[in-house]
Amino acid sequence: MTMNSRSTVPLLVQDLRCEYQDNPLGIDVVQPRLSWKLASAQRGVVQSAYQIRVTETSDVLWETGQVLSPQSIHVPYGGSVLRSGQRCTWRVRVWDGNDRPSAWSEPAWWEMGLLHPSDWQAHWIEPGWQEDPNAEPPCPYLRTTFSVEGPVSSARAYITSLGLYELFLNGQRVGDACFTPGYTSYHRRLQYQTYDITALLQEHENAIGVILGDGWYRGKLGAFSQRNTYGERLALLVQLHLRYADGHQQLVLSDEGWQATTGPLLRSDLQAGEVYDARLEMPGWNRPGFDARQWQKVEAVSYPKDHLVATTGPLVRPHEEIAPIALVRTPKDETVVDMGQNFAGVVRFSVQGPAGTTVRLQHGETLDAQGNFTTAHLHVPQRWQEVRYTLKGEAEEGYTPHFTFHGFRYVKVEGFPGLPSLEQFTGLALYSDLPETGTFECSDPPINRLQQNILWSQKSNFLEIPTDCPTRERTSWTGDIQVFARTGSFLMQTAGFLSKWLQDLAAEQVADGQVANIVPSPVLARPGKAVSVPWITRAVPYPGKSFPTSAGWGDAAVIVPWTLYQCYGDQRVLEEQYASMKAWVEYMRKQAKKQPWFRRLNPLSWSKQEKHARQSYLWDTGFQFGEWLEPDESLFGPKMAIGILKRMLFSAPLVATAYFAHSTHLLAETARVLGKEEEAQEYETLHHRITEAYQATFIGRDGQIHPDKQASYVRALAFDLVPPALQRAAVDHLVRLIKENNDHLGTGFLSTPFLCHVLSEHGQVEVAYALLKQDAMPSWLYEVKKGATTIWEDWDGIGEDGTPKGSLNHYAKGSVGSWLYQVVAGIELGTPGYKHIRFRPRPGGGLTAASAGYHSLYGEVASSWQMRDGTFTLTITVPANTTAIVFLPDAEARQVTEGGQIVETVEGVIQVNQEQEATVIEVGSGTYAFAYPFSKNNE
Ligand code: BGC
Repeated sequence: MTMNSRSTVPLLVQDLRCEYQDNPLGIDVVQPRLSWKLASAQRGVVQSAYQIRVTETSDVLWETGQVLSPQSIHVPYGGSVLRSGQRCTWRVRVWDGNDRPSAWSEPAWWEMGLLHPSDWQAHWIEPGWQEDPNAEPPCPYLRTTFSVEGPVSSARAYITSLGLYELFLNGQRVGDACFTPGYTSYHRRLQYQTYDITALLQEHENAIGVILGDGWYRGKLGAFSQRNTYGERLALLVQLHLRYADGHQQLVLSDEGWQATTGPLLRSDLQAGEVYDARLEMPGWNRPGFDARQWQKVEAVSYPKDHLVATTGPLVRPHEEIAPIALVRTPKDETVVDMGQNFAGVVRFSVQGPAGTTVRLQHGETLDAQGNFTTAHLHVPQRWQEVRYTLKGEAEEGYTPHFTFHGFRYVKVEGFPGLPSLEQFTGLALYSDLPETGTFECSDPPINRLQQNILWSQKSNFLEIPTDCPTRERTSWTGDIQVFARTGSFLMQTAGFLSKWLQDLAAEQVADGQVANIVPSPVLARPGKAVSVPWITRAVPYPGKSFPTSAGWGDAAVIVPWTLYQCYGDQRVLEEQYASMKAWVEYMRKQAKKQPWFRRLNPLSWSKQEKHARQSYLWDTGFQFGEWLEPDESLFGPKMAIGILKRMLFSAPLVATAYFAHSTHLLAETARVLGKEEEAQEYETLHHRITEAYQATFIGRDGQIHPDKQASYVRALAFDLVPPALQRAAVDHLVRLIKENNDHLGTGFLSTPFLCHVLSEHGQVEVAYALLKQDAMPSWLYEVKKGATTIWEDWDGIGEDGTPKGSLNHYAKGSVGSWLYQVVAGIELGTPGYKHIRFRPRPGGGLTAASAGYHSLYGEVASSWQMRDGTFTLTITVPANTTAIVFLPDAEARQVTEGGQIVETVEGVIQVNQEQEATVIEVGSGTYAFAYPFSKNNE
């Protein structure tokens, strides 16, 4: 073993990040956390110490000196108190395991935003005209001018709005983010953005222009397209800070001096789409020298500023540009552009024709069984996902929508002058700017397509908030992200995005600990005020006073922060969410103590003390969604009502009690991580009692669980609720159900993430592969076979006869992804944040190769295996400052080589052990290629 052998290979410190971001501008975290990566061509590299220096020009704000610590992620800033607008530059250097220092890193920086409400001297302004709240009024355009006299060394714009904004300075769009200021629980937390506008300023007259859109604030929202959820008036708050080269400062504020009008953007709605009349354009409206005499006054209004928060999560930006693959003439004689990919975004198009011609684009996910354009499967209103553009009649004109997005693959084109050509249409995928972190590929092309579909469903639904689908509801159902968080956190760096969302979840948590089913919740939109919503919104499972939350949905409060802690080693998210996590568990505890009506009426149950005590650990009251959308269930019509009723009668307590146990366990673990030992013990005891009650009530002596369905066994095994002596029997029952179902899965939203994991954990890896490779309905590859490019909500999203059903872009069932990365390719967490990694690929299912890569906070983790000519090779990459354990399946240590050498003698290898089914090798950082003869028949 030659860990840290002395050599002259340089050690580099790079990729400096502050709060996960590369040089963030305008944050309000008062102790920002700093992370960096070590890079070295050498193996077995560790960090033994670090030194950080933070400066502001020549002032030192924080100098740590040499700190003996391996910590290289999330080191909290500990220097002097930071003030609004402060620019902090930092560098770091480290020492390796042999106490050799690296050079200082390149400098990085972060800049503070406006930390106090009193920093906001600007006034909220809104257009000075009356609007009919029930109409969909045109978008307001606002402008003002100001003068710059002398050289400006730096300038910032701080801006937010009620509704959405687009900001322009001297005719130039400021930034490239869409749907700003984003979507939060607006009356509790409203984000502002900070922009560096130095380069956009000019001497003398300058002009600011802003367009406002309805967005989530007052546009159509949720399944019932309710309007004016957060308010009826759009408003703007903006403040420019100019610092001149001679040191003096100038503020430019939104105030009564601004002017407003309406223009070509006649309607704009996230769901319904946009109406734009290019004949009404106002050339130069956002530049100096424009004649705005016809514009109206604005009004200064006194909306609050004490709930403004800096943006720390990633904003939405345009990503892939998608070229259409076909122009379809449907049996109904419609002209339809096929983008070849279902996604969330818009179409940028160009057109040429006479002034006054209106082009209409309608966006949908699929064609129907006859091959015609349809949106019927989504049960959405008539005017929906539609863009109408009226030409001004120039040589060639183009349009990109401003404040709307659609979930679509097909675009029905009407009113187009002449025959459209494909080059005139480009799809723009819009989603939150999360770094992509994960890749997966294997020797089976349909599985690779499945993986792509999972990623596309994530992209389509990670747009400001984690949504159920980008089409029908577009709301953030807690249950959906709860099941998908682990898979999503492999594919993309979710920390900033989901932490932001968790803050809204906590902000809207009801006093008794209930978590809204949707966050942000339309019903809880205005604190202390019940929102008037259609009766049906109250009658169906929406959160709020009239309808309680559900197990598996509210548990997002616990499971999502825990997942972030696991994937990113982020302890602060646990600290910040702890009160919310605990409140949710306490809510469940109260629900469990309640007796259901049928028990209260049953005199036989009154006397049995022991049973009575046990019952107070069963959550068997109130509404539950249950497993949700198993293969035989439907989301619409009488089948849905019957399904909910059946679940309420037969399986609700089974599901709810399992989540009560699971979340209580995770809360106990969280308390332990946070050093709250007493609470850890309390919740561990509670967990123990729930588990006992669960086992006594639901698990038979033969390991059978009722209802005898796949989900019942998967959940119980995944949450460790089956006593060890009955685990084998429970697994056998699960396998029996799968076999009786001809190797088809039978799970819904809640258990699908665990199905294959439970099988491979319990010696049934081939059954898991059989499910993965199944391509008859219900299965993942049935979707692929039917040409899906995203994950469907229902297992039969497109029937055998081509009939579409439900949403075709719901990520929940794509949660099988975690099994591909963790088990097929074998990249598994050892300790939180991947400080220690477990590589344990489990070949099977006839695959001959699989590989995955993951950009952890420490650096690139990779695992790639293949079987060829009787040899199994596994190539892994372990980032510097981490260690790993590698399980080589069916290997014998004496036959294993690395780079052609006997493994024990290889640099970086710490230890080699032989276990029954694997050779187990502990290694330090570096890339290793292990090889050995492999006899297992994998055909
Ligand atoms: C949504 C789901 C959600 C469910 C509640 C549906 O309408 O689209 O994804 O979780 O309702 O069970």
